[in-house]
Amino acid sequence: MPEATFHFPHDFRWGVATAAHQVEGNNANNDWWAWEQQPGHIAQGDTSGLACTWWEDAEADFARAAALGTNALRLSVEWSRVEPQPGTFDEGALGRYVEMVEALRQRGIEPMVTLHHFTNPRWLAEQGGWEQPETVDRFARFVERVVEALGPTCDLWCTINEPNVYAYQGYLAGAWPPGASEWGTAMTVMRHLLLGHAAAYRAIHEVQPEARVGFAHNMQIFDPARPRSPLDRFVTSIIDRAYNQAILSSLKRGLWTPPLGFGLALKLRGTLDWIGLNYYTRELVAFDRTRSEALFSRRLHGDDAEMLDGGYGELYPQGMMRCLERLAQLDLPIYITENGIPDDDDDQRPRHLLTHLHQLWHAIQRCYPVMGYYHWTLVDNFEWAEGWTLRFGLIALDPETQVRTPRRSAFLYATIIRANAITPQAIDAYAPELRPELLPGPDG
Ligand code: GAL
Repeated sequence: MPEATFHFPHDFRWGVATAAHQVEGNNANNDWWAWEQQPGHIAQGDTSGLACTWWEDAEADFARAAALGTNALRLSVEWSRVEPQPGTFDEGALGRYVEMVEALRQRGIEPMVTLHHFTNPRWLAEQGGWEQPETVDRFARFVERVVEALGPTCDLWCTINEPNVYAYQGYLAGAWPPGASEWGTAMTVMRHLLLGHAAAYRAIHEVQPEARVGFAHNMQIFDPARPRSPLDRFVTSIIDRAYNQAILSSLKRGLWTPPLGFGLALKLRGTLDWIGLNYYTRELVAFDRTRSEALFSRRLHGDDAEMLDGGYGELYPQGMMRCLERLAQLDLPIYITENGIPDDDDDQRPRHLLTHLHQLWHAIQRCYPVMGYYHWTLVDNFEWAEGWTLRFGLIALDPETQVRTPRRSAFLYATIIRANAITPQAIDAYAPELRPELLPGPDG
């Protein structure tokens, strides 16, 4: 029997993704920078510092992305640079972003620009950030300025990155700024972020009617630890609803879906031209009556799970298809806006890349409208509370010297892009343990 080659559509977008604060360096005017200076917040006492020096020279890494053959790149605009004081816009900063998106176009790379990726200007954070309803209009005003400046070069916009992760880490886990732990506030913040998305959607279309606007939704698979236990199944479904489903249902129906809220949310309706999936991992959920603060649940991993670096989670490629099955019901174009793995020695990433892309291939065979894949990420970058301890790059970075060294996975990604396919040769060369017939199917 001939060995299979898994072809992708001829116009498929092969990309990499990143975010301003994680790569630009010296982003000293936002809430994250302030948070990093306080002891105990970041692993090893790390700071973002110079990050990957993109503010000075993103172009050098754009050239590396182009050399891999990518034709798409997702980056974000840092609000605190563009609007350093309320209502005061920095034309120089906007000009630098114009330069960046033009540099991408010159290299045949389509930019996708994210307008909010976790960080806020300090002045906004001091006024209560996304806890305050006024932030929605302030965000729309900032977005309008960005789209006026970048619109001639860019028409693919991602309003907000991961409202659920932002609210969870900053307002429940207390691990990110502002370090809060309050369920009601977390839900308020998530509602305001969704209203911010809707306001941005309208502001963008006002300036650029042909724009394609979506947001990046982090989805995680939750499975009951003991599938036959009704309590495990119940608590799993509650967590899945709170984390994955409530946001999607609220946007689709124009009704706040509990536990996010109650009542009409008409402003949310019709505010998606596409939907982005950020998929990383799965967790098993067990009922635990002692943990009321965690919705009576404990999170764990199966004995046979292949674990990722730094306890980041489990390698679970089938989860990609399970998320896509749900997103396909929205009947919108889908982008994988993030997918990747922390793996400093690159012993798992080739397998990760091949198996996740194979799931994507299956999804495309089922006619799910998956338009592109943005790998997280091109070059190791500042990984929020984990500092520099987790390495997600196709290219390794020494943040002290700024020396970059491609990992094997970079060559694998380039090989896949060149063939526009997963070939048996690529599998043999990079992850021979995965013969094509052994790549797990969507159900196995
Ligand atoms: C996502 C986030 C990224 C990146 C990635 C890897 O949730 O959007 O900024 O940090 O996780 O952990």
